[in-house]
Amino acid sequence: MRLTTTLDWLMDKTVVPGYSRLGPAVRRAWWPDDPEPGVLAGRHTVVTGASSGLGTATVAGLARLGATVHMVGRRQATLDEAADRVRAQLSAEGTPAPDLVTEVCDVSDLDAVRRYAADLGGTTDAVHALVHSAGVLPPERTETRQGHELVYATHVLGPFLLTSMLRPLLRADGDARVVWVSSGGMYTRSLDASDPEAKDREWSGTDAYARTKRMQVALAQMWADRLRTDHVAVHSMHPGWADTPGITDALPAFARLTAPILRTAEQGADTVVWLAAARPASVTGGCSGAFWSDRHPRSTSFLPVRREPPGERARLWAAVTDAVGVKPH
Ligand SMILES: NC(=O)c1ccc[n+]([C@@H]2O[C@H](COP(=O)([O-])OP(=O)(O)OC[C@H]3O[C@@H](n4cnc5c(N)ncnc54)[C@H](OP(=O)(O)O)[C@@H]3O)[C@@H](O)[C@H]2O)c1
Repeated sequence: MRLTTTLDWLMDKTVVPGYSRLGPAVRRAWWPDDPEPGVLAGRHTVVTGASSGLGTATVAGLARLGATVHMVGRRQATLDEAADRVRAQLSAEGTPAPDLVTEVCDVSDLDAVRRYAADLGGTTDAVHALVHSAGVLPPERTETRQGHELVYATHVLGPFLLTSMLRPLLRADGDARVVWVSSGGMYTRSLDASDPEAKDREWSGTDAYARTKRMQVALAQMWADRLRTDHVAVHSMHPGWADTPGITDALPAFARLTAPILRTAEQGADTVVWLAAARPASVTGGCSGAFWSDRHPRSTSFLPVRREPPGERARLWAAVTDAVGVKPH
């Protein structure tokens, strides 16, 4: 036990072994059991960023366990293509036809998120899992319809508002989970809620990406505290390095360098599906708020110097609630 714990920790801290395809290949020897087959039958799940990469792989994983999956994305055509890919994949495996619902919502557009959540509330009684997988790494600074910086709006504001608005549906499930798909890139930044819209700092895509991925981890912990009494567990995770359009299009040089060791999208999404469906006490509530990879909670700081400045969480919560116009208790 001690040997596997040490090996697991070493793979994590030396980054390449833990983040590459070696991570799941080795860790599956000791990681916790798969969710039971059919465990999500009759449950509704919502996946943002469902039209590509880890989002589509998450849809397949949840559907394989019997869930109805609401696939949320920006364009109907790409959602339909992704749903067809999942249907073909599951059919080839001999899995019964999945129940997939494609729903257009740009999560960076706060008005669209409000409309989407209201519509879902009108057609669905309960949501078992909400997965925030939508992600962007744009080449230049742009703003959304409401004037928010795009990366902050996609990774933080939209998911925050969606979580808040779906709270009654999550509570109604009785054992719901919210999973924020963050990134190991968040280790490169401390939590910094000053100028979250990057108006007064020099903007770069990788900086905006890493800062907002760090915010996701902090917000998951803050939501975990608030949703505990609703029996909703909230987790953040990092998928390692997975071969998806997100990597090959946004970081082509990195993708070329790491091509032989990248995980498949399914391996990257494994922990997302597991957090949404598995039932060990650590997942259903005991470790709510934890930051996971390869089915194991990980430290949220790589080095002691990255420890969080005091008061920064409260500052982030205030900035986000002001921007989205909700004040969750
Ligand atoms: N792949 C990795 O190795 C890796 C590593 C660390 C973290 N991640 C995280 O994993 C998540 C998924 O990334 P990926 O690698 O699967 O990338 P991907 O293939 O580019 O998928 C991103 C998805 O997000 C969607 N999306 C972007 N903005 C959206 C918006 N405003 N509203 C709704 N959907 C939106 C995209 O839809 P469109 O089709 O409309 O563009 C696409 O379906 C991201 O949050 C990313 O930060 C990935």
